[in-house]
Amino acid sequence: MVIKKVGVIGCGLMGHGIVQVAAQGGATVIALESEQRFLDSGLARIDKSLAKLAEKEVEKGKATLEQAKANASAVRGRISGTLDKKALADCDLVVEAIVEDLGVKLALFKELGAICKKETILASNTSSFSISEMAAVSGRADRMVGLHFFNPVQLMKLVEVVRTPQTSDETFAAARAFGESCGKTPVACKDTPGFVVNRLLVPYMSQALMMLERGDATKEDIDAAMQLGCGYPMGPITLTDYVGLDTTLAIIEGWVKRFPKEPAFAIPEMLRKKVKEGKLGRKSGEGFYKWEGDKKA
Ligand code: CAA
Ligand code: NAD
Repeated sequence: MVIKKVGVIGCGLMGHGIVQVAAQGGATVIALESEQRFLDSGLARIDKSLAKLAEKEVEKGKATLEQAKANASAVRGRISGTLDKKALADCDLVVEAIVEDLGVKLALFKELGAICKKETILASNTSSFSISEMAAVSGRADRMVGLHFFNPVQLMKLVEVVRTPQTSDETFAAARAFGESCGKTPVACKDTPGFVVNRLLVPYMSQALMMLERGDATKEDIDAAMQLGCGYPMGPITLTDYVGLDTTLAIIEGWVKRFPKEPAFAIPEMLRKKVKEGKLGRKSGEGFYKWEGDKKA
C-alpha cells in the first residue's frame, strides 16, 4: 500500500514537524487541530521552518534562491488545515500527535475507527502508551502501528515503527516505507513501554532531575557534564525543557501507574512542582531554564 494522503492530528511541537516532513516526502497532508488558533500557530511554525530549510539549501549550494523558494512553496502547497475530523475520512494514513493522555487518545482512536475508510492505517506518535490499547478501541487492530518521531522532527533522523501482535505485515511495511519517505531511518520495535529510545532516555532524564533535587550538582554542571563528557548535543535538564515538562511528567506518571514495582520509573518532585506552576519548558518560555523562542535565554 502506498501512502499518498496523510492526516496528522495535533499541530503542536511534534505534529507540525510530522506534517512538514510528510509533505516534503511528497504526500498530501491535512493537519487537524482542536482550535483555529492552534492550527494557525502550527502552520506558522511550518512556514518558518520551511523558510529556514530554503535558507540552508541555498547556503549549502544545494539550490539557487529561486529553486529553494519554489521547493518550499511546493511543499507548503501540499499542506492544508482543518478542524473537522471528517476531512480525514479518505486518508491512507492518519498519525495522531495530540497530548500524552491515554483517555483522550483512546476516545480519538475510537472516533477515527468509525470515520476513516476501512483501508486507512492509524498510527500514534505516543512517547509511552501502549499501541495495543489504542488498536483495540480503533476496531482495526491489524491496521494500527506506532510511528514515533523525535523532537525536533525536521532534524532528527530516526522514526521508531512499533508493531503489536495484531499489526499486519502489509501495515508495518507501509508505515516503514512512509517513515523512509519522510527522510527518516526506521527502526522496528515491539509494543513495549517507551519502545527503544524513551525506555533508555526518560529514566536518564529523571535521574538527572533527582540529582538536581539532591543538590549533587547545578543544572548547568549536570548539562555540561553530559555534553562534554559523553558528547551529547544537549544535557538532560535542557533536554527535559526541550521535550516539555508536561509531556515528560505524563510519560513517567503513565509508567508508574502501570508498573509500580519498576524502580527505573520514578517521578522527580521538582518536575511535578514546575508543571503545577505552568513552567512547561521551551513551549511556555520557562522550565528549568528561561527560553526565548527556540533558544535558551
Ligand atoms: N530546517 C532545516 N534546517 C534547520 C531547521 C529547519 N527547520 N532548523 C534548524 N536547521 C539547521 C540549522 O541551520 C543548523 O544547520 P548547520 O548545522 O548547517 O548550521 C542545524 O539545523 C542545527 O540547528 P541549530 O544550530 O539551530 O541547533 P543546534 O546545533 O543547537 O542543534 C538540535 C539543535 C538538533 C536540537 C540538537 O541540540 C540536538 O540534537 N539535541 C538533542 C535533541 C534530542 O535528543 N531529541 C530527542 C528528544 S526525545 C524525543 O523526541 C522522544 C520523546 O518521545 C520525548
Ligand atoms: P504539544 O502539546 O506541543 O501538542 C499537542 C497538540 O495537540 C496541541 O497543539 C493541541 O492543541 C492538540 N490537540 C490536543 N488534543 C487534540 C484533539 N483531541 N484533537 C486535535 N488536536 C488536539 O505536544 P507534543 O510535544 O507535540 O506531543 C504530542 C505527542 O507526541 C504526545 O503523545 C507526545 O508524547 C509525543 N511526543 C512528544 C515528543 C516531545 O519531545 N515533545 C517527542 C516524541 C513524541
